[in-house]
Amino acid sequence: MSDEREVKILAIESSCDETSAAVVVNGRKVLSNIIYSQIDIHTLYGGVVPEIASRKHIEKVNQVIKAALKEADCTLDDIDAVAVTYGPGLVGALLVGVGAAKAISYAKKLPLVGVHHIEGHIAANFIESPDLEPPFMCLVVSGGHTHLVKVTGYGEFEILGVTRDDAAGEAFDKVARAIGLGYPGGPKVDKLAKEGNPDAISFPRAKISDNEYDFSFSGLKSAVLNYINSAEMKHEEINRADVAASFQKSVTDVLSEHAVNAAKKYGMKKLALAGGVASNSGLRAAMKELCDKNGIELYYPKPVLCTDNAAMIGAAGYYEYIKGTRHGWDLNAIPNLKLGER
Ligand code: KG4
Ligand code: ZN
Repeated sequence: MSDEREVKILAIESSCDETSAAVVVNGRKVLSNIIYSQIDIHTLYGGVVPEIASRKHIEKVNQVIKAALKEADCTLDDIDAVAVTYGPGLVGALLVGVGAAKAISYAKKLPLVGVHHIEGHIAANFIESPDLEPPFMCLVVSGGHTHLVKVTGYGEFEILGVTRDDAAGEAFDKVARAIGLGYPGGPKVDKLAKEGNPDAISFPRAKISDNEYDFSFSGLKSAVLNYINSAEMKHEEINRADVAASFQKSVTDVLSEHAVNAAKKYGMKKLALAGGVASNSGLRAAMKELCDKNGIELYYPKPVLCTDNAAMIGAAGYYEYIKGTRHGWDLNAIPNLKLGER
């Protein structure tokens, strides 16, 4: 018999290059999480091509929704609300998910809940760690975002730091391309770094003078490119594994120091990682070491919940739903939606 208090959310995510649908119960239990990744197509072009992403989302969105319902062993009649990412992201890509969600919620008279993509990434931790509750510190590191956030309640955030230029994942992707690893570069740099010496090359660690929690990765990216170019001019072979390991260490040193310093300053005993780069083994190791030293408990989702997926939108959508957040038929894609904005 089904529990009367159960809230089943159908969630849809299409902000970048993954078309995904999921069914999530009470924000924590995933009945299905279907992800169609377009990576193979975009790899041909060395990065995400927005127009192609939108077209693929259109082709796939109904298929992933059907598959998610089937795997969850339910129909739209069992669903209590539809949650969808409405920003930030690629406008054409977002519109596909938003359109599908609106159509279903209109046809079935279901509440519609728009979800912020980063709120989703943070909520992936609620799925992975059913006992985790706010407040906690969260480092969101993805292909498009680098945010250090104090999570003060469900759906309530205080942004302490952001990147001034490239996102952490973007830096990984650009460096990967420079050393010939292809797209998406993060996992490939991570793998190659394991064979290299992280102290072989001293790459810069940017400090921002007017906000100690902000980040900057473009100087580091340029330093890596300069290192490669100057070796090429001198006809010297570079050790790609050493470049990958030294670059990764520069990024993860800065990320872990900022996050742990902020947790200490704000008296947070819990620190969570979120976003695609949260899968990085170097980042997890650096965080674990610093957190252990400072008596902070570290949380991170499993890799499939770190990169874009609809289950995380279902988790965030649930907490928005029980707070009473509802969107109307005028819900639109907002490519530059700020965290905490409605
Ligand atoms: O969260 P996500 O799927 O998309 C955005 O919302 O941006 O993150 C994708 C990013 C890509 O830049 C990818 O290279 C990076 O996450 N990434 C990694 C790893 N796995 C994915 N970066 C470093 N190490 C990894 N293991
Ligand atoms: Zn994302």
